[in-house]
Amino acid sequence: MIHFGCDYYPEQWAQWLDEGEARWQTDARLMAEAGFNTVRLAEFSWGLLEPEADRFDFGWLDRAIAVLSQHGMQIVLGTPTVAPPPWLLAAHPDLTIVDENGMRMGAGTRREACANHPAYQERSRIIVEQMAAHYADHPAVIGWQTDNEFGCHDTARCYCPNCVREFRAWLQQKYETLDALNKAWGGAFWGEVYRDWNHIPVPTRSAAERNPGHVLDFYRFSSDSWTRYHRRQIDILRRLCPNRFVTHNLMGFFPQLNYYDLSQGLDFVSWDNYHYYGATPGAIAAAHDHMRGVLRRNFWVMEQQVGQVNWSAYNPATPPNFVRLKTYQAIAHGADGVIYFRWRQALAGSEQYHSGLLDHAGRTTAAYEEASQIGSELERLAPLIAETKSVADCAILLDYDSRWALQQQPHNQLLRHDVAQDFRLNLPALHMDDFDPEDGPYMTGRSYLAWPFLAPYVALWEKNIAVDIVSPETDLSAYKLVCAPFLKVLNPAIVANLKRYIESGGTLVLGPRTGVRDQHNRLFTEPQPGPLADLTGCTVRFFDSLEPERANHLFWSGLRTLHETTINLWAEVLDAHDAEALASYAQGWYAGATAITRKKNKNGQVIYVGCMGGPVLYRTLFDHILPGLGVTPPMISVAGVEICARQAEDGRRLLFLLNHTDGSHALTLTSPVVDLVSGDSHSNLLRLAPGQVVVIETHEG
Ligand code: GLA
Ligand code: ZN
Repeated sequence: MIHFGCDYYPEQWAQWLDEGEARWQTDARLMAEAGFNTVRLAEFSWGLLEPEADRFDFGWLDRAIAVLSQHGMQIVLGTPTVAPPPWLLAAHPDLTIVDENGMRMGAGTRREACANHPAYQERSRIIVEQMAAHYADHPAVIGWQTDNEFGCHDTARCYCPNCVREFRAWLQQKYETLDALNKAWGGAFWGEVYRDWNHIPVPTRSAAERNPGHVLDFYRFSSDSWTRYHRRQIDILRRLCPNRFVTHNLMGFFPQLNYYDLSQGLDFVSWDNYHYYGATPGAIAAAHDHMRGVLRRNFWVMEQQVGQVNWSAYNPATPPNFVRLKTYQAIAHGADGVIYFRWRQALAGSEQYHSGLLDHAGRTTAAYEEASQIGSELERLAPLIAETKSVADCAILLDYDSRWALQQQPHNQLLRHDVAQDFRLNLPALHMDDFDPEDGPYMTGRSYLAWPFLAPYVALWEKNIAVDIVSPETDLSAYKLVCAPFLKVLNPAIVANLKRYIESGGTLVLGPRTGVRDQHNRLFTEPQPGPLADLTGCTVRFFDSLEPERANHLFWSGLRTLHETTINLWAEVLDAHDAEALASYAQGWYAGATAITRKKNKNGQVIYVGCMGGPVLYRTLFDHILPGLGVTPPMISVAGVEICARQAEDGRRLLFLLNHTDGSHALTLTSPVVDLVSGDSHSNLLRLAPGQVVVIETHEG
């Protein structure tokens, strides 16, 4: 089935409205009328479920679940540990995180707790056990969401005394001896050679730039801290609620937690899909494909935006078909659940300007009407969508160590904080005012995708080629093309995995800065790309980190292309020892030098792209190599009409056609089809109106 519904906060309406709990009946009825079948509850309700230490009050939640389930709603319960209650914060003022400047977060709001605080860990254990035991066999409760968005609000990294203690223990377990640590970090650089584990600080703000090995280990430790904290909750839920699913709501490309580690033990991942300022359908599609790639299985959107958010740099009203396109794009990319955030605009609290399906006055909005229309369509479509999933011939590798190394030392202002420009068009010449550095790097401003990362993805997305975004250590044997646009840090496992893939006949496209650093964030003693140099057949002679006002472009030798390929930000000059040059730089003092190489190995081939550019760069390259790989889209489309397939084991395929544009488009059909949304038949031409979604069924092959 497709789980379809909303995030609902009965505790808030019981407090805010004179009619109190009576309002729940109205809400539940309106949800049922919209065709909803699933509701998420309670993730922020610790202060109401445990009003004082060890006094629990599940009555209100029992009553809310009863009303909702009487209207056919299945319930996902959130463990409420994201919002420690006032009595706990009063008893433990040091429970809140300390930032790298040594400033302790104030008590209150949410997400302020430190994963390594003993009292927070203990009280979390108690409330989760109590809640899990209370609802373990409740017939309406189908599953659990652990906590809410670990790391949100820039809280994944804490520098408090508990984290100092735990960091030292983590280091001791990893390195066993101080000699090993000192060698790995290379602290002799400024005499930072440690003779005592207790002399090692957490990398708070410092006079000069911190040691890269120290910082990368601290980022790994911080991510591990939340993974350990999360694992405890998963284990409690598995023990007490063995027949219910467990998921957590991730945040797409949020860069501070290793989602591959954090999600271990979940049945599937969920994520919260918000269209922030600067996002595009391609960037959102990439986030879906990354979320599906975390556990390499279908996922849920646990929070699907329905209108204006309250936190983006700009918060425009959303146009007609916004909910329609977002919902079907999610399903097309592998979502088996779409839960709208939120049911009704809040009357109080910090999100009063955040839209809901109902507005603050309780009126149903245009978003509610669109959701209702989708609800009626899903009654027919959901059985056809069930048991289908995305099948990709291509993978793009996303590596957290590399992102963390980039965060600390971007070596180009425009690469700071994973901030990146929207790739709607090929890259214009970049100027610092393109980026509003005051925008929170992850939540507002430009899309927070690492610059070098999104370009190859969008080049494939625009061709409607399905892509899995996965860990560089996962099994790659199923893929015809693997693109690793940003593997700055290489560990032996990644190197071995890529070599295995090439030996099996794969096609690997590596991006700039590949193999700059080893697993300790040190430079290799061999020329870049270090241990991959034999695979690429080329080495990097030097790199150029381009200022915003400077650009270059490529001359593609041996490829016929009309595209002028602009290069921004980064350009490496390559020496092709045992590889052919595919492209060279066209301008500047290193004009004519090699920019892109290809080495054909025994079976496979390795292409090294030594420069950063927009989708046009990769579109040119992929135009050249995809036909030989037998990688084709499910259907020929036009710019702006996304086509995505979900496939059943028996070869049955559903194609989702999404017109993201304001214009109408006509697609040529090779055989007659029936649009499963409208029921209309089309023989040789399929017209799509602006914002229209068409779903057609075909068979593989
Ligand atoms: C996040 C949180 C929600 C809410 C929304 C607002 O996804 O999980 O509680 O704050 O953002 O967009
Ligand atoms: Zn801490």
